[in-house]
Amino acid sequence: MSPPDSSLSSQSIVLIGMMGSGKSSVGKKLATHLNLPFVDSDTEIQREAGMTIVEIFERFGEPYFREAEAGMIATLLDKGPAVISTGGGAILNQGTADRIFKNTISIWLDAPIPVLARRTQNNTDRPLLNNNDQEQTLIKLMNARRAIYERACIHQDSASDDVDAIAEALIPKINTARMSRI
Ligand code: S3P
Repeated sequence: MSPPDSSLSSQSIVLIGMMGSGKSSVGKKLATHLNLPFVDSDTEIQREAGMTIVEIFERFGEPYFREAEAGMIATLLDKGPAVISTGGGAILNQGTADRIFKNTISIWLDAPIPVLARRTQNNTDRPLLNNNDQEQTLIKLMNARRAIYERACIHQDSASDDVDAIAEALIPKINTARMSRI
């Protein structure tokens, strides 16, 4: 029997998509299925800064956060194969977007605005949504980002709250993407 081809699993899997699209919960499941470590770029940024994302936005502003985010994602991508969940706006940085779309198996988790609004409504950890019209904000952000999200290798509907089913649906798509990238 020939040994497993390590090149098949040498690429990171990167989840992109709007706030509330399920990147972290689906990412954790995928990591278990694929036997890869799971990392969340927002968690790592907060750990490194010793501050929450809300505090980073308040004290230093969004541009500072975006720089930190780009640096953190570059570091995570250099570390070797993992399932990486990114913040919804990470792909706004062109260097980050190019790295993700060129060097990883990227997955866009896509859910309708009302679903995103429902999932994010009781959470105050997202500075961009700490306002009175979250749904309108989500629409604006989605309109500005959709064309970038569309560059992902895999487009996965994540409207369902069944995280296990979404992760399971992704496995064959990831295997196909891995095969076509060797
Ligand atoms: C953001 C998404 C958040 C976080 C920050 C900004 C965005 O991450 O990075 O609040 O611009 O969409 P999640 O997508 O994990 O919520």
